[in-house]
Amino acid sequence: MCGIIGVVQKRGQVAPFLHQALKRLEYRGYDSVGVTTIAEDQLHMKKDKGKIEEVHMKLNLDEMPGSIGIGHTRWATHGIPSMYNSHPHFDCNNEIAVVHNGVIDNFLELRKELASKGHKFGSETDTEVIPHMIEDYMADGMNLTEAITEVTKRIEGTYAIVAMTTKEYGKIVCTRDGNPLVLGRKEDTTYVSSDIPAFLPMTSDMILLLDGEIAALDTEGVVIRKLSDGTVVDRETIEISWTADQAQKGGFPHFMLKEIHEQPDAIRNTLRLKPEILQDAAQLILESRNVYFLAMGTSGHAAIAGKHMFASLAGILPRFELASEFPDTVYGALSENDCIVAITQSGETTDTISSLKYAKGFDTKVIAITNVVGSSVTRIADHTIITQAGPEIGVAATKTFMVQLTSLAQLALVLGELTGSVDKRILKEKRKRLEKLPEIISEVISRNEEQARRLAGLLHDKPSLLFLGRGISQATSEEGALKLKEIAYNHAEAYSAGQSKHGPIALVHDGYPVIFVAPRDETRNRIIGNIMEMKARGASIISVIERGDEELESLSDHLFTIPSGIDSEFSVMPYVVPLQLFSYYMARRKGYDPDKPRNLAKSVTVL
Ligand code: F6R
Repeated sequence: MCGIIGVVQKRGQVAPFLHQALKRLEYRGYDSVGVTTIAEDQLHMKKDKGKIEEVHMKLNLDEMPGSIGIGHTRWATHGIPSMYNSHPHFDCNNEIAVVHNGVIDNFLELRKELASKGHKFGSETDTEVIPHMIEDYMADGMNLTEAITEVTKRIEGTYAIVAMTTKEYGKIVCTRDGNPLVLGRKEDTTYVSSDIPAFLPMTSDMILLLDGEIAALDTEGVVIRKLSDGTVVDRETIEISWTADQAQKGGFPHFMLKEIHEQPDAIRNTLRLKPEILQDAAQLILESRNVYFLAMGTSGHAAIAGKHMFASLAGILPRFELASEFPDTVYGALSENDCIVAITQSGETTDTISSLKYAKGFDTKVIAITNVVGSSVTRIADHTIITQAGPEIGVAATKTFMVQLTSLAQLALVLGELTGSVDKRILKEKRKRLEKLPEIISEVISRNEEQARRLAGLLHDKPSLLFLGRGISQATSEEGALKLKEIAYNHAEAYSAGQSKHGPIALVHDGYPVIFVAPRDETRNRIIGNIMEMKARGASIISVIERGDEELESLSDHLFTIPSGIDSEFSVMPYVVPLQLFSYYMARRKGYDPDKPRNLAKSVTVL
């Protein structure tokens, strides 16, 4: 949440780059934007409420002098989206500029203290205490790095802070605790950002900054120190495999649509995970007394599917817990003999990270499944599986969901071989069929995209839709409903089809749309019963079914079809695709931007 960029370059105007970098970070928040540069001993600032291009049209973000600058795209926490609350924030003399991602819990107390010393505040944000505190420490003779170090001793909460001052021209200083920051380096330019895509067109050389460290950037490079004692940290540069093209729309109107189309490749790449990575994870799981899946949102739906995969292929039944609730549901009943599989595409979700920190207090083992190298979860985990989706820019998760499922499926197969609960030959056949999924999903996209567009035309004005599935397909229907809610803003509810007659059926009336996810698996006959119940009450039935399933075809008003021969353990992967496309076209039909749903941000870094 909130995107940060900072750049120190030797010559030339930095503002056009800051503007473009912020656009690449816009998925992190988009209610306001701001940029500050330094030129001729002065801070130059442009900021306002609105999406980046709206603000650019008004203020021309490219027209700013100076070759050093910082920028921010905001997801509001403290204070409404407004020009005043937009970052950067400044000290009383307009000599220090700060951008921040996170929440300063004790800001009211600090603000009171600063106000009593005569500091004037221009915003309602928690962030603004930071430049004023830096101002005081610098007035006492400290340099910017020392001043920020002192600030971190007083603030409580989570933060990624990037600051610069006219008093130390040519330098940007940044620090973090609980919120991401990565550094980048190319020739005589140095970058800091919340996420890699911001500087990906310029460099794939990345340097990690960890919690409790502070970095000073200039055109010569980066010096990283420990906040605790100021010792210099020697950190290697990592070359990342993501390409700049992956972070562009590549001819598609939206990132979300592009990312749906990239799913076959994302699965293919994730199927190439090194066997020992899966083996080591499987070993940790087998040595454990209890296995928990922790995740939020879409990643939680991957966990629900993963639970079915582990049970069916390996005879292991993990518990899925929402990471946000975990400390309050596990009641401390954890030990070093337990294992958590944390699923988080960003690796930064605060709900997940804070529950893992809680579990680490009991020495519980952690396996992370994440798409981001070097993300916070990778530093907590005992073992990490990096999924290979490439950068996902659309706020609604699609291809990262697919690769989470791919990793879980592979892990379940490896576990199955080790536990022997399913015949090895059967597992081998299943593995072969898993490898066919990229092709199948390409076909699912090409055969269902037009139908998704057509159905969006018919259903866009329906205020509410029900999504029903049984067994593993509950994960598919949950994900279908979430996608629709988050980008098309229809009320959508997912329910177990079995449970639907225990209450939700009261919602159904003539023409009420009910979407059934009904693969030809062991749940099929029971789901036919549920379709009949809904039909009898006038529901309009939209089904996602196996191609050629004539019985279900005859019961449905509208269809999405999936090729036959899909193992039930892997069915979420192809069956969710028409629902992703349907949500995308519903959002478009209603005139919404699917890449930037209201009130949401890609990585949720508040509790
Ligand atoms: C939905 C979506 C969110 C995330 C959730 C967890 O499209 O993207 O529900 O799945 O915020 O995020 P990660 O996986 O980064 O922990």
